[in-house]
Amino acid sequence: MQDKVVVVVGATGGIGSALTRKLASTGASLVLAARDSTRLATLAGELPLKVLTVPTDITDSQQVDTLIEKAIAEFGQIDILVNAAGAGILKPYNSVEPADLDKMLDVNLKGSFYTTQAAAEEMQKRKSGHICNVVGILGKHSMAMAAAYSASKFGVVGFSKCMAEELKRFGIKFTLFYFGGIDSPFWDNVSLKVDRKKMLSPETAANAIFYALSAEPQAVPMEINIQPDSHLFF
Ligand SMILES: NC(=O)c1ccc[n+]([C@@H]2O[C@H](COP(=O)([O-])OP(=O)(O)OC[C@H]3O[C@@H](n4cnc5c(N)ncnc54)[C@H](OP(=O)(O)O)[C@@H]3O)[C@@H](O)[C@H]2O)c1
Repeated sequence: MQDKVVVVVGATGGIGSALTRKLASTGASLVLAARDSTRLATLAGELPLKVLTVPTDITDSQQVDTLIEKAIAEFGQIDILVNAAGAGILKPYNSVEPADLDKMLDVNLKGSFYTTQAAAEEMQKRKSGHICNVVGILGKHSMAMAAAYSASKFGVVGFSKCMAEELKRFGIKFTLFYFGGIDSPFWDNVSLKVDRKKMLSPETAANAIFYALSAEPQAVPMEINIQPDSHLFF
């Protein structure tokens, strides 16, 4: 990871902050993005290196363009993008309001589309890069109460695989992560009854992402699937 420039989107979240802490001692240069500037500054202040923080709402493509521009202005390149921003609305299908569906599609699908698209354009110029999209198992399997969330996450898989096809000749790798339940603030506002003690830790997710990023150059970990033993999807 020495000399790599890594953009972590959703850096203040459970998964994003665990990954950021792990990356902070690897020699990588870090660009951290999420909406809340105070939480970004708090995280940055805990790290043993100087990082670039860029408050960004990924539902706004112009803010995403600014994030990428600022990363390039500061570090000259982007080697890695990790999309770890997102939100969950889990409720019965007939309680899903249009605003719920908009939120799921705007943040989870369109937000990660914009960041992937903008970072990939920079990577394409240098014919090198790695994009990690934290999808979740509900981008691959179905679950009751997850219609809106799952629609957004299946969409992430769809565009990621299409862009991976377009970009493989430019040396750009994609890794999709299908994690099961991870005990993070994601669940704070989810009304579904879940047992967080049985979930995976954010560090498990961060370790998996780190594995993908540090695999030998010719290796492409295309998909990583980790489930808690209490809730297995095959
Ligand atoms: N937790 C799980 O069980 C689980 C399992 C599988 C997959 N996932 C996926 O993993 C990703 C991260 O989840 P997590 O558990 O780390 O969630 P989390 O702890 O709630 O963190 C979410 C992060 O996304 C950021 N964010 C939310 N909306 C944003 C927006 N519009 N623009 C920019 N940043 C935004 C948040 O910061 P701000 O609020 O400051 O913007 C925060 O940094 C999500 O895509 C989630 O769907 C989670």
